[in-house]
Order: sequence, then structure tokens, then C-alpha cells
Amino acid sequence: MDKHEIFAKSTIEDCRIIELMRNTHRNGALSVIENNEDIPFTTKRIYYLYDIPGDAERGGHAHCDNQSLIIAVSGCFTVTLNDGKATKSFILNRPYKALYVPAGLWREINEFSSGSVCLVLTSEIYSEDDYVRDYDEFLHLTEAKRK
Ligand code: TYD
Repeated sequence: MDKHEIFAKSTIEDCRIIELMRNTHRNGALSVIENNEDIPFTTKRIYYLYDIPGDAERGGHAHCDNQSLIIAVSGCFTVTLNDGKATKSFILNRPYKALYVPAGLWREINEFSSGSVCLVLTSEIYSEDDYVRDYDEFLHLTEAKRK
């Protein structure tokens, strides 16, 4: 699918919370993510945000191809997704609740609690070419939805 098709079709109805398996034990809990089983893509990259100031605003971009799974492995933060027509916010505050984010959605991440860690699994390797960082360009790419 080309970039314009992805942005014309992407919708916040396609993002969802995926509840991960939890193995709980008196010595601690364990959660697992298996490619194409628990999540709808094959993970090519993992990154994580940490040492995040409480007033930080992360994100501020959309991806053309890259799908993500976002998890608050520690603490709490808010992810707001926007498909050009509608927005939806998710408070992530459990390490077993993962947010699946398809391509083509604008994301903002903020309201980080102290010591929070934001883990992100992605379907693509890092490429700056995959980013749309200009909000006006995003609005242009999603224009068809607002007609
Ligand atoms: P960015 O994706 O904008 O972070 P966030 O969405 O969390 O605010 O990336 C921040 C910087 O880090 C940017 O200069 C690109 C760089 N970066 C990499 O080099 N590799 C990566 O895998 C990622 C995600 C970012």
C-alpha cells in the first residue's frame, strides 16, 4: 500500500489494548509477547524510553509503514492517537496491557509518572523516511477522511 492509501484508510478503530498473558507467582509476575500470536506483526526492533521528565511530550509524529506495540512496563503515561478525524486517549499503567498502534496514526505521549518506562516493539527497523513529523503534512495526507 502506498503512503497516501495508508493515511486515507488508517483509523483509530484499528488500535486496541492487547491484554498479555500473566504468569503470577508469589515471587513476581511474568508476561510474554510472541510474534504473530499475541501481536499482529513480527517484531524487528525494540526500544524504550526512560529517565522521562514528568512534563515531557514524546511522539508528535505518524508512521507510514511501521506498526507499534506500546507498553508501560513501569509507571504510567498517556498515549493519544489521532487518525485525522478522531482522537482517542489511552492511559497505560499496567505492564500486561499493551497498546497496538497501526501505521498512519498521529501519536502523542505525555503525562509520564516518575520512573516510568515506555517499551515499544515495532514491525520495522528504524528509518527516518517512515516518519511524518509535520502535522500539516499529516492533515494533508488524511484530508480525504474529512470530506
Ligand atoms: P522519536 O521516534 O521521535 O521518539 P518519540 O516518538 O519517543 O518521541 O525518536 C527520537 C530520536 O531518537 C530521533 O532523533 C530519532 C532517534 N531514534 C533512533 O535513532 N532509533 C530509533 O529506533 C528510534 C525510535 C528513534
